[in-house]
Amino acid sequence: MIHFNPDTRTFNLILHSSVYAMQVDSKDRLVHLVWGPRPVGEEGVLSGRLRPTLSDHASFEFQTRRDELLTFGDTTTHEVTLKANFATLPDPLPDGDAPHLPIRDVRLRYVSHEIVTDAQPGLAPAHGLPTANGEPRETLRIQLADPVQPLTVTLCYRLTPAQDIIERWLELENTGDAPIEIEQLFFGALHLPNGTTELTSVSGAWAQEFQTQWERLPIGRRVIEHRSLQTGHAANPFFLLNRPGQAWEEHGTVYFGALAYSGSWQLSFEQFHSTDVRVHGGYHPADFGLTLAAGAQHKTPALVCGVCDEGWGGASRRLHAFTRERILPVAVAGVPAAPPDTHEKSGTVGRPAAADQFRPILYNSWEATYFGITEQNQIELAQKAAAIGVELFCLDDGWFGGRRFDVAGLGDWTVSPDVFPNGLEPLISEVNRLGMDFGLWVEPEMVNPDSDLYRAHPEWALHFPGRPRTEARCQLILDFGREEVVDYIFNALDSLLAQYNIAFIKWDMNRNVSEPGSVVGKAIWQAHVAGVYGIIDRLRAKYPHLTIESCSGGGARIDLGILGRTDQVWTSDNTDALDRLRIQEGFSLAYPARVMEAWVTHEKNHQTGRSHELSTRFDVAMRGALGIGASLNGLDEAELKEYASYIAFYKRIRHIVQGGDLYRLERLEEADASTILYVLPDGSEAVYSVVVHSHKLGQFRRMVPLRGLIPSATYEVLDRYQKVRLTATGYELMVQGISGDEDGRSGYGRTLHIRRLETGD
Ligand code: GLA
Repeated sequence: MIHFNPDTRTFNLILHSSVYAMQVDSKDRLVHLVWGPRPVGEEGVLSGRLRPTLSDHASFEFQTRRDELLTFGDTTTHEVTLKANFATLPDPLPDGDAPHLPIRDVRLRYVSHEIVTDAQPGLAPAHGLPTANGEPRETLRIQLADPVQPLTVTLCYRLTPAQDIIERWLELENTGDAPIEIEQLFFGALHLPNGTTELTSVSGAWAQEFQTQWERLPIGRRVIEHRSLQTGHAANPFFLLNRPGQAWEEHGTVYFGALAYSGSWQLSFEQFHSTDVRVHGGYHPADFGLTLAAGAQHKTPALVCGVCDEGWGGASRRLHAFTRERILPVAVAGVPAAPPDTHEKSGTVGRPAAADQFRPILYNSWEATYFGITEQNQIELAQKAAAIGVELFCLDDGWFGGRRFDVAGLGDWTVSPDVFPNGLEPLISEVNRLGMDFGLWVEPEMVNPDSDLYRAHPEWALHFPGRPRTEARCQLILDFGREEVVDYIFNALDSLLAQYNIAFIKWDMNRNVSEPGSVVGKAIWQAHVAGVYGIIDRLRAKYPHLTIESCSGGGARIDLGILGRTDQVWTSDNTDALDRLRIQEGFSLAYPARVMEAWVTHEKNHQTGRSHELSTRFDVAMRGALGIGASLNGLDEAELKEYASYIAFYKRIRHIVQGGDLYRLERLEEADASTILYVLPDGSEAVYSVVVHSHKLGQFRRMVPLRGLIPSATYEVLDRYQKVRLTATGYELMVQGISGDEDGRSGYGRTLHIRRLETGD
């Protein structure tokens, strides 16, 4: 609910268990009052009488006012949200003023506000597909204007009360007749209570994404960022913040935020000597440039933020539910594949699982055949995949143009007759006959110099004239600042989708940028993202049954922006179960299990060379959207039966993993083991999963109390053979937990299905 008190000019944004308040002051500036948890179930508004003490009286500390929008000019010694250059002098020029240009000073004053229900941030999906929850949401739009220069900025706050989430974005408008240069633009600034200085974030690299890091913010500035045309492996645009020692997994006040944007980004955390903490998030300032032409507008994407007092777990669950309900598109059920006669039937045989919003079980042949694909070996893999219960078969790299290895072919999106002499039709019909959907890998933003596309259009690659073009994985990036390039790629993908029954594409992006020279100049940073989003939006609008996986050398394009137009993400190229445990834990801080594609691959892992038992590999992969990446041709009948048994088990628990609330009962850094629980919101079913990363001899593992169950209900705990291992009340499970036989073995895992007994109360 949004409440405005016209007497004190105070805004209250009231969410389920938090409140955000700000006030227009006597000089018409919009200043932040407070953001934090509030007593649940209590009615009440903040009058605006109470204000924080700020030290802005001292001559060196006069810029500490908590403006909702920090602008360069008003503020020069600290980080700002907006910096602009005005090229026009005021007319008349005040007496005594010299005609310096450009004027680099923005002062924004309150003009008006409105509450609307249909507002959207910049780069909101335009595919037209619904989200699971389409209930309208209130957005507060507060218009501020510079009293002298022709710039209007509207601050937008869209409320999702159930998850205590506010989406913040800015809408800029040049109301004059000369261009305005914008030099820095974040999507919003957050003022946190003094001392909120313990930061949780993730860092990483290729095959080591989402490594959780905790740190105490220094006095000064700490920045997490990635400078490229995708979100990046090195960091991910989300954070959790709390007072040191005052929050843990299920307790304490935690502030959280994430950017809904997949380009060059920055989150900047500032702590003043006064312990005041500010967070700024949005477009990366490096090489940023935005010209706001006369009369033009610019809408930023959203900085999604929230606060709760249920610890990091509470913050994650809010982000997960928000993503599932409000961000992920719901694909329309596709043309049913033929009913399978060879494998155990899932609850929704003959319909893509996307129709239920749950992700289907995927087989991807990349690690099985790499570039050695033939029609025959793919058909054989597909037959084996169908027989073990797979629902979606994805053909990876190597099917197009001259792509016989990773040195050529990108850009030529036509089926290679060398590999598929009869096109993809024979493979796809067989996949469909087997009852599976068909998926295809593409890497649309790229071009190999050894390709027909590059030979025809070398000028289409990003470059600076007269300067070298640095290749990475033998490839260059197409200039999505050119409309004709974006259209070419759209048309190439459109032709494939029109010709073949393709239900799924894996959209890859396998390098960071260098030489970002484009026909649109510095605007390429946003134009590239808009180009990618635009192609996906057009494809999804035209093929509403299509589902998409976002991949960038594993997990380098995962964020709330891309999730608005994709259904799942490839978490990491590293499929080693124990490495995955850590990657998945970091991932789970912000993103839900439903989108976290996780494959079971070979016993001896291709990336790390380590061997893990099949049970461990399944225990880890079943924590997300299960996929299989192992070569099924290398497995004997007994092993294939084991695979089938795990897949059948996963189908029984999928709705809980992909739709339940996550509780991280035990985290790696505390126990060298990870125990998690997914619980359906009504407490009727849960999945308990424990994996021991490294066990110390002589150490006994504690029983871990469960959460989210109904204390008075009786539950049975089933293993993958549906054998009841335990019967206990919710009370017992939530006070004591489940005793394990996992002592003494590193790499040991266990997954159990917990089900409420109908008559148990
Ligand atoms: C990237 C992806 C892999 C695979 C290869 C194909 O590395 O992350 O899953 O698709 O490209 O070249």
